[in-house]
Amino acid sequence: MGVLADKSEILYHVGFCANDLQGAEWAVLPGDPARVQILAENLGEAEFIACHREYTSWLTHMDCGPVLVCSTGMGGPSTAICLEELARMGIKGVIRVGTTGTIQERINIGDLIINNAAVRLDGTSQHYAPLSFPAAADIDITNALRQAAEENNIPCHTGISVSSDTFWPGQERYDSFSGYVRKSLQGTLKEWQKLGALNYEMEISALFVVSQCLGIKAGAVCSVIAKRTESEGVVPLSNESEAARRFLITVRQALRLLLKAGE
Ligand code: URA
Repeated sequence: MGVLADKSEILYHVGFCANDLQGAEWAVLPGDPARVQILAENLGEAEFIACHREYTSWLTHMDCGPVLVCSTGMGGPSTAICLEELARMGIKGVIRVGTTGTIQERINIGDLIINNAAVRLDGTSQHYAPLSFPAAADIDITNALRQAAEENNIPCHTGISVSSDTFWPGQERYDSFSGYVRKSLQGTLKEWQKLGALNYEMEISALFVVSQCLGIKAGAVCSVIAKRTESEGVVPLSNESEAARRFLITVRQALRLLLKAGE
């Protein structure tokens, strides 16, 4: 579709070149740079590639092939920059692994949410496509994530996310410094809930729209760290938790399914 970078060109933001990918065409994208190494080491034999700004990158050698693990930082802008540079290095499929706050009573902290679409409450995706354009996941990635979670009896819910540029007003949180949520956003949590959306997070709408524009397949799985029907607070995801184990098992098996299917 677009023009690939020269294999030895170091891409400005992520700080590495296509040669470093050793043929990897799939990437796992957490937001947090601190989660990259542990994810990579738990998926396969892992090697450090680069660390520049919010982008920490490791390559992991899974039994089904090499996979890049690269952090995106928080929010749409840094996610879009990452996708642009990964596309130029030949990445063809990405799975976002993030954290989220659920807005549905039936979903609990530690459950997984697989998002097949997202409400575009972000600014980044509007620089790529009009608001009438859907933010939708790739169906094969979504199905692989669902199959992986179901086969491992992991509590998992599939549906629509609300992707907000802000953690506080856009997600109708009142525990901010000012405590103020502007009028147009007051009552929106209830409305998204009534419309059946499952969760709030900050990257998926940009991920889906930008990936679509770049010809990359994209999917997303989130671990629930906030239950907004009960509290505005978050329960941090520790690497040793059952929630982190669920996350890892699901992503590993989904990647195996996807990479084997592409052989
Ligand atoms: N990430 C978000 O954007 N919101 C939450 O509530 C939890 C994680």
